[in-house]
Amino acid sequence: GTCGGEGRVFTEQQEALVVKSWGVMKKNAADLALKLFLKIFEIAPSVKNLFSFLRDSKVPLEQNTKLKPHALSVFTMTCESAVQLRKGGIAAAKETTLKRLGASHLKYGVVDEHFEVLKYALLETIKEGIPEMWSVEMKEAWAEAYDQLVSAIKAEMKPSS
Ligand code: HEM
Repeated sequence: GTCGGEGRVFTEQQEALVVKSWGVMKKNAADLALKLFLKIFEIAPSVKNLFSFLRDSKVPLEQNTKLKPHALSVFTMTCESAVQLRKGGIAAAKETTLKRLGASHLKYGVVDEHFEVLKYALLETIKEGIPEMWSVEMKEAWAEAYDQLVSAIKAEMKPSS
């Protein structure tokens, strides 16, 4: 708000950067998904064990069609988060989705470090996906939308709820 001190502001320009770049990148969704997963496993190979469809799979990563839905969820929900942030926050608008994601990711064994690895991999994937559109502003817009989404998911990752 204009008085400050009530957290970070997501601007119209930041929303536009996220929406526009995702509009370009989603034409290559399968390729992006593979890239995103490869980067995650490069940094944290053990993450493979969290995913049921990778744990027991003999299919090479490049041929695994199940990578795409998770990567797409991460991209689209981060993009939606950017749009909702402009409208005043994501918590209310997506409460049931966030509750479900919080509960399920707790159960899968996802911890803070995993969200950090995904953030790094996501930003690198975007950087390589749209080199001609990449900028510090672009990076900050995606990072902020992702951080806000993740903090909303984490808020629902309570063992007792
Ligand atoms: C499953 C979204 C971050 C690991 C899912 C599903 C969605 C989703 C929609 C489908 C099933 C369900 O609803 O529970 C997201 C979003 C994320 C995120 C939006 C962050 C913005 C992560 C991270 C990890 C992770 C950081 C771990 C590195 C998993 C696993 C599954 C899953 C292991 C189950 C896959 C399977 O075995 O079928 N996620 N996720 N997710 N996610 Fe995420």
